[in-house]
Amino acid sequence: MYYIGIDLGTSAVKLLLVDENGDIVKSASEEYPLYFPHPGWSEQDPADWWNAVIKGLAALLDGVDSTRVAGIGVGGQMHGLVALDENDDVIRPAILWNDGRTEQQVTYLNDVIGKDKLSAYTANIAFAGFTAPKLLWMKENEPDNFARIAKIMLPKDYIVYRLTGVHSCDYSDASGMLLLDVARKRWSKEMLAICGVAEAQLPRLYESYEAVGEIKPDVAAQFRLGDVKVVAGAGDNAAAAIGTGTVGEGKCNISLGTSGTVFIASERFGVDKNNALHAFAHADGHYHLMGCMLSAASCNKWFCEEILGSGDYAALQKDITPEKLGNNRVFFLPYLMGERSPINDTDARGAFIGLSMDTSRSDMVQAVLEGVAFALRDSVEKARELGIEIAASNICGGGAKSPLWKTILANVLNLRLDTVKTEEGPGYGGAILAMIGCGRFADAGEACEALVSVTDSVYPDPALAAQYEEAYRRFRLLYPALKDTFKAIKDE
Ligand code: XUL
Repeated sequence: MYYIGIDLGTSAVKLLLVDENGDIVKSASEEYPLYFPHPGWSEQDPADWWNAVIKGLAALLDGVDSTRVAGIGVGGQMHGLVALDENDDVIRPAILWNDGRTEQQVTYLNDVIGKDKLSAYTANIAFAGFTAPKLLWMKENEPDNFARIAKIMLPKDYIVYRLTGVHSCDYSDASGMLLLDVARKRWSKEMLAICGVAEAQLPRLYESYEAVGEIKPDVAAQFRLGDVKVVAGAGDNAAAAIGTGTVGEGKCNISLGTSGTVFIASERFGVDKNNALHAFAHADGHYHLMGCMLSAASCNKWFCEEILGSGDYAALQKDITPEKLGNNRVFFLPYLMGERSPINDTDARGAFIGLSMDTSRSDMVQAVLEGVAFALRDSVEKARELGIEIAASNICGGGAKSPLWKTILANVLNLRLDTVKTEEGPGYGGAILAMIGCGRFADAGEACEALVSVTDSVYPDPALAAQYEEAYRRFRLLYPALKDTFKAIKDE
């Protein structure tokens, strides 16, 4: 049998065809545009996602006996607000996870409703990218659109809906809406009242590996599919954690994608008392804590492609020789879209600091890689402050393809970083969830044990880690020093 894993990312959708032994038989990818209609805003058209999924499925299944496909699982970019009207038509472009327009609504939720109450209702506080503040924004700024909402869903749920006709959401992704009572795994009545929405406007909740339905006859006919179960799927970070085998107490996964995340699995529900890390459900049926930075691999892409005008990252990095590591006097703050974890500041912006006449282009490229690593360490430190000991971490995402970046990160975090055989985190996780939903495996633990293995480990070097310790100490001085300046130069 075959299983399809779909990763609905921010720049593209990636699809994997996986056989029952977990081997990837084929893959396909389709890009779609990302719109920034205003500085700090970020939107996509759900129709673009669906068209890309259709094109991707056609490419994936071309020349394949598609009647052998048993299940589909989707992992997707989290938090995006997709609003449908009573005919299930999309009301406005989706407002994405890295959109910063909701500063006022976040302030209202955190300061007027209060962090204590939010945390009691949902286990989390408000961050600009979360879905609830976007609903409040829509209510205040687009009342006509708000009044038309019949269903609220997340990006990957829109794909599941188009595949099955079912309005569903899984607990891992629902956790990032700030509408779910994460501890009790049910919608929070208090949060629904605060946002002015009714439970009937929200999808039904499932575990990520539960089948929500069968593929619709018209989609099945288009791709000559037989009976195909579609599982609820997961937020991309939880899906990536499944795909990298990050299941079990204290297991950690770092994703170096458009966003950068530190995901720490736990068998028990727990809240970060400082609310720096998100307390969400995991796709394995348990829980996790997570820190999310909004611009990670996207900082490198932006600097190399937009600013230096080259997509040849290896050429741009060739002068970053081993003796340069730990010795850079240039620092980079990676807050190109504001920042979520742990500083929660929509006004923060990117910055190079420490430039001098002898600064080279490669010092700046290096500073970008290091700045992202330092900002990820900020989240790792929040976990360490909670007494969580991270012994090692898996790593996935586009940035994990760079041995240089992995070396920098392993030394900045002073952690061993493991890469698994299948680097396609969320897509592979989606396929594994489909396998569980179809009964191929009993649960995520059993599936990961059978399918996921480490192929490469990068160890920190004590001398280099000590140099980076010192550099991190300096990095930590920069944001507090610039915080007020960011407010003062804020784009109106
Ligand atoms: C997680 C988050 C991002 C997106 C990226 O909270 O916002 O990692 O899921 O797709």
